[in-house]
Amino acid sequence: MKYRVVELNTMNAEKPELGSLSVLEGDKDIPFPIKRSYFVYGVSAGEERGFHAHKNLWQFLSCPYGSITIFLDDGDKTAEVILDHANKGLLLEPQMWHVMHWNIDNSVLCVTASDYYNENDYIRNYEQFKEYKRKIIEHES
Ligand code: TYD
Repeated sequence: MKYRVVELNTMNAEKPELGSLSVLEGDKDIPFPIKRSYFVYGVSAGEERGFHAHKNLWQFLSCPYGSITIFLDDGDKTAEVILDHANKGLLLEPQMWHVMHWNIDNSVLCVTASDYYNENDYIRNYEQFKEYKRKIIEHES
């Protein structure tokens, strides 16, 4: 499976009421130069977004507020990762079908990506995704 759960470098303030600070650094915590960052917010609990895979895009997903479950599918195996703390992130390689499920109202999804938005990089149909993966595996063997 082409993903990894990452714990961000975190500084806790001396006074607990001043909270914590978590850091994400390009080329260090994530193995790609950052070209784009976007945020998804205002989503109600129980709703789902995503339902696509990327051909070449690398992404780093985090949830600095709330709880979001990421369902992953590489065309063969499935997995799920719960992002429920600001110091936690998910490094997602290309060619992974993913669905984001909002566990709590208004949870915020932050995405850092390796490239600019390009609709041609999306596979939005699950059967097409399976076919795409099948061709890659066939080509590799
Ligand atoms: P999409 O990636 O499908 O979001 P999600 O998987 O969370 O449902 O994007 C939603 C819409 O926003 C779609 O019309 C494409 C557009 N969009 C941009 O214009 N730029 C971007 O950087 C992103 C991520 C999406």
